[in-house]
Amino acid sequence: MTLTEQKQELTAQLEPFGQQHLLDFWDEISDSGRDRLARQIAAIDFSRIDSLYRGNLDQPDWAELSRRATPPPAVRTAEREQGTGGELGVTPDEARRRGVESLRAGEVGVLLTAGGQGTRLGFDLPKSLYPIGPLSSASLLQIHIEKVRALGRRYGVAVPLYLMTSPATHEQTVQFLEENNRFGLDESDLLVFCQGTMPAVDIETGKLLLAEKDGLFLSPDGHGGTVAALKASGAIDRMKARGIRQLFYFQVDNPIVPVGDAELIGYHLAAKSELTSLAVAKTEPKDKLGNFAMIDDRLHVIEYSDLPDDVAELRNSDGSLKFWAGSIAVHIFDRDLLQRSLELKSSLPFHIAQKKVPCLDAAGNQVVPEKPNALKFERFIFDLLPEAKRPIVVEYPEQDCFAPLKNAPDAEKDTEQYVHQMMFAQHRRWLEAAGAHLAEGTNIEISPLFALDAKEVAEKIEPGRKFSDSEYLSPSPTA
Ligand code: UTP
Repeated sequence: MTLTEQKQELTAQLEPFGQQHLLDFWDEISDSGRDRLARQIAAIDFSRIDSLYRGNLDQPDWAELSRRATPPPAVRTAEREQGTGGELGVTPDEARRRGVESLRAGEVGVLLTAGGQGTRLGFDLPKSLYPIGPLSSASLLQIHIEKVRALGRRYGVAVPLYLMTSPATHEQTVQFLEENNRFGLDESDLLVFCQGTMPAVDIETGKLLLAEKDGLFLSPDGHGGTVAALKASGAIDRMKARGIRQLFYFQVDNPIVPVGDAELIGYHLAAKSELTSLAVAKTEPKDKLGNFAMIDDRLHVIEYSDLPDDVAELRNSDGSLKFWAGSIAVHIFDRDLLQRSLELKSSLPFHIAQKKVPCLDAAGNQVVPEKPNALKFERFIFDLLPEAKRPIVVEYPEQDCFAPLKNAPDAEKDTEQYVHQMMFAQHRRWLEAAGAHLAEGTNIEISPLFALDAKEVAEKIEPGRKFSDSEYLSPSPTA
């Protein structure tokens, strides 16, 4: 095909959607640039983008839905502390026993999403490379991988890690893993797979934005892109072949997630749940967390911005919030649920957000917008929740499971400093529970390979041990 024919063909494809401006620079770009642009155009479902822009999609009426929502079936912290079974009738001991059984049998895999661009943090590299360890400077990825390895060591099995990247993070993440020998994780226990992308459109016109004369602006399609990426990568078949039945899902920015926690897995199994979510109790009605709620017998996350004030403020007779359960994006998925979701025709819906997107103007000049100029489309993993049978929610105290690194230093919360404080505080609690004494101003960071939790710290630290200087506790090279 000649260049002119190729241009005509592409124009015919773009014209019905008013997107022919994507070829404005066709005659100036190189052959390889034309190839790239043509491939990108071929991969786009223009009619879907058009519908998304025109708002022809059924957006749920959350205000109406939330008025008939009820709190989710749950195991609460108080019940766990008292050792009672709560509405599920499963004690923490029983849950731990079931969880340990499944972990020992090698049925648990870990699914970690690390495809986001981390724009709020403003870090040049993928967020997974951020040196978050307050004394060790260990990266988020190192901490997560050490947890996976420690889990395997504890239960005498190899625990596989399924790590999702995106075109924005893939190469640097893979290189970092190679340079660091995968932080000791066996090659056969790691699958890195890449999620898809979506274009962005101009807010005013719905026209797709160009990042370069020969390239569209594309960004990762959201953490909900996990489902499609699992399909494309063949990861589910590999899980099946390996006998993995449960996936412990979490996101890369939270270094204090209790990865592979046996008790959580045990509740999931005891309840025959297809999806179990870890929750923290909200302190305020409008806390900036997604809200777990049952609507028509299905579990949903209602975003805080979608929950009307009057519903958010509803209280039980003891004064506690009716919608108490905040989502921290930690879930246990049955492999069967993931498998089923791959076959769903409707797939996960796209959410639309207004963003500032650097792009080319009509004359081909780079523009760095000062206010949102574009719509981006992302899928969210929590849209999988309504598909799950017998879902449950399990509450853990926030201090034991949630300290996400989201923002640059000047923000109010979820900054590096905040995460450091949360890590130090957790490790101090573990040590003090083991009978150790920390001098004032002393901070201890614990490597997951030294101890994964308070119980393991108690096995390793003599009661009465004194720490007078800040220290990073990591396993000795011979350990
Ligand atoms: P966030 O929604 O906080 O996005 O992602 P982000 O990219 O980290 O940060 P901002 O919003 O640009 O500042 C939560 C988790 O979901 C993953 C992220 O890597 C993070 O672990 N994620 C997000 C993906 O894997 N892919 C995506 O497309 C978006």
